[in-house]
Amino acid sequence: MIKKRSKLKIRKARPSDAQMILDYLAIIGSESDNLTFGSEGLGYSFEDEMKTIETISKSKNSVMYLGFKDEVLVSVANLGGKSRDRMKHYATLGLSVRQAYWNQGVGKAMMAKLMDFADRNKVLEMIDLEVRSDNHHAIHLYESFGFVRTGVMPKLMKINDSYFDTLVMIREGGLKS
Ligand SMILES: CC(C)(COP(=O)(O)OP(=O)(O)OC[C@H]1O[C@@H](n2cnc3c(N)ncnc32)[C@H](O)[C@@H]1OP(=O)(O)O)[C@@H](O)C(=O)NCCC(=O)NCCS
Repeated sequence: MIKKRSKLKIRKARPSDAQMILDYLAIIGSESDNLTFGSEGLGYSFEDEMKTIETISKSKNSVMYLGFKDEVLVSVANLGGKSRDRMKHYATLGLSVRQAYWNQGVGKAMMAKLMDFADRNKVLEMIDLEVRSDNHHAIHLYESFGFVRTGVMPKLMKINDSYFDTLVMIREGGLKS
């Protein structure tokens, strides 16, 4: 019997999700060298993660979405809006998908959700991100959502003594423009 591909469910993160997110981050850190952290994780405690989610929930220009398949957390996507008055129209994007779920449209669905949030948001005007310059999969995804390359951060990542450049990409405007 052919197993039907389960549907992706997306919802906003809640403080009670903190441990699940920390467990997820530990897994994806060891699955990909395209992130800014490896198997060592981000070094966040349970309390740090709870506070981060609370801060995001209260912030007008930030959001964190979780993607689930069969109740398993398979993706985290977030926009981290800047807090200073002169920069609060800017948010930085982060996205990851569990390796076993790559190439099933999860990244695309999470990006669509983030872009919808940004386009409806009264504060946000610009989104920026950094991506390893050889991460063609992610770059293709970002370009399909209107992100353009604005620069390079040479050698920003150093993994086992090898350096990797990252691209800076931005998306301006959206439905508001
Ligand atoms: C990058 C990532 C988020 C993409 O998620 P995903 O769920 O696999 O993405 P999707 O299935 O929605 O596919 C997105 C597109 O990439 C394309 N793609 C897949 N592999 C590709 C490759 N090697 N080169 C170019 N495009 C590729 C797909 O065909 C699809 O494009 P299409 O819709 O035009 O056909 C995921 O691979 C990931 O989490 N990687 C590790 C962490 C990471 O790199 N995060 C980004 C850091 S900036």
